[in-house]
Amino acid sequence: MLKIRPIENHEVNQITQIEFESFTDPYPKDLFQYLAKMSPELFLVAVDEDIEEKGILGYAVADIKRHVPYRIGHILSIAVCKQYRRRGIGNQLLSELIHLFKSKGCNSIVLEVRESNLKAKALYQKLGFFEVKRRRRYYEDGEDAIVMTLDLEAAL
Ligand SMILES: CC(C)(COP(=O)(O)OP(=O)(O)OC[C@H]1O[C@@H](n2cnc3c(N)ncnc32)[C@H](O)[C@@H]1OP(=O)(O)O)[C@@H](O)C(=O)NCCC(=O)NCCS
Repeated sequence: MLKIRPIENHEVNQITQIEFESFTDPYPKDLFQYLAKMSPELFLVAVDEDIEEKGILGYAVADIKRHVPYRIGHILSIAVCKQYRRRGIGNQLLSELIHLFKSKGCNSIVLEVRESNLKAKALYQKLGFFEVKRRRRYYEDGEDAIVMTLDLEAAL
């Protein structure tokens, strides 16, 4: 059965591997080490204990921006191992993050996604996110980011 739980420090290498296979401009291992140490409760991993070759199938990592009086959940990265995609893991990771942000009193959630990343945009839209603005040439290769948000107060 699929289980979503906070990361353990020794799992950072596996996360970095998935990040590097998933993105052309991956976050470095150092950042994941820092985030896993500072706020493991916002760094979720998906594991399936029924799978013989045990390991992490996907992850979602976030932080919370505090702009008094608002708290905004910010999704930094989400990825699923290539061979386990399209089985609902991304959906479960994101749903759990939304639940977590609500429990921490966040008013909304924000994220950036490459304009061309239609799969990720479809996932976010499915869970109620909508496009709010564009950040021009946000990525190193010059692609624009689309900023998407989910209003948690409206979703209550
Ligand atoms: C985006 C990603 C995390 C989705 O994870 P996943 O486990 O494959 O997604 P799910 O199986 O939970 O799919 C949930 C929804 O996402 C959308 N989706 C996922 N894969 C899709 C695909 N190949 N084509 C179209 N829509 C897709 C669909 O709306 C899907 O719902 P449906 O199955 O009912 O149609 C995964 O494709 C991934 O790791 N991509 C590389 C990293 C990345 O781009 N991350 C996002 C950065 S902003």
